Amino acid sequence: MAIYFEEAKSVEAVNARLACSDPRFQQLMEALVRHLHAFVKETEPTMDEWFDAIQFLTWAGQICDEKRQEWILLSDVLGVSMLVDAINNRRPGRATENTVLGPFHVSNAPRRSMGDNICLDGKGEPCFVSGRVTDESGQPLAGVTLDVWQTNGDGFYDVQQPDAQPQFNMRGLFETGADGAYSFWTTLPLPYSIPDDGPVGLLLRKSGRHPMRPAHIHFIAEKAGYERLVTHIFVRGGAYLESDAVFGVKEELIGDFVREGESWRCHFDLCLKPKHG
Ligand code: BEZ
Ligand code: FE
Repeated sequence: MAIYFEEAKSVEAVNARLACSDPRFQQLMEALVRHLHAFVKETEPTMDEWFDAIQFLTWAGQICDEKRQEWILLSDVLGVSMLVDAINNRRPGRATENTVLGPFHVSNAPRRSMGDNICLDGKGEPCFVSGRVTDESGQPLAGVTLDVWQTNGDGFYDVQQPDAQPQFNMRGLFETGADGAYSFWTTLPLPYSIPDDGPVGLLLRKSGRHPMRPAHIHFIAEKAGYERLVTHIFVRGGAYLESDAVFGVKEELIGDFVREGESWRCHFDLCLKPKHG
């Protein structure tokens, strides 16, 4: 017998129509409908509120282009990026924890030699970052590609200021040798604001939240046979560690940045988990 739509049986009415050939897609759709309808039944939005929500989502789509990804940002500020990451990268052992990738990674950064400086614009306070990449037994790992990026001394990524910063400013790809060691010069990272001139910024303001991220350096560490590590080093004692706009901070990712004369130093080891290990 056909199920016509009625408030009390709304989920059944929609899900009865699903006939997905892919069972996983069927599962996802059924759960999506169940949770969406539960949200609407709990909050009972007015027609105006519902239209505001539609307009918000429309704006989020319209503001996206090849450089700006508002949907990822929305997922980040709602804690969904970190939740999906946590579910997919459980690391109960010694391996370094993942955190959020963010929208400012570029895949074709230049290859650099250990000890090189990734700061091409001379802004900010010099900082030497070094460490060792090992497996969970502490053995150094050779042939690990380390992809590093951060904001410049003004708190912006190069891709946010293509006319003001040299291309690939504050970025580099490094490869570890037999000792697993890595090192590079950069600048002391500073807290910065995620893009807040669009719908995500509006959402944060209406929620009484700030758009700031605590100071950090991004890393992706990759080696065949090991899980891809997507992480940051955060600056111990820095502002916003406990209120990161995108929930990316984990205690073990906070590093010590120590002043030495005119510059800063940070030593931070990374540990990779074998795939299927
Ligand atoms: C970032 O750290 O680059 C970032 C992460 C999430 C949202 C915006 C920026
Ligand atoms: Fe960042």
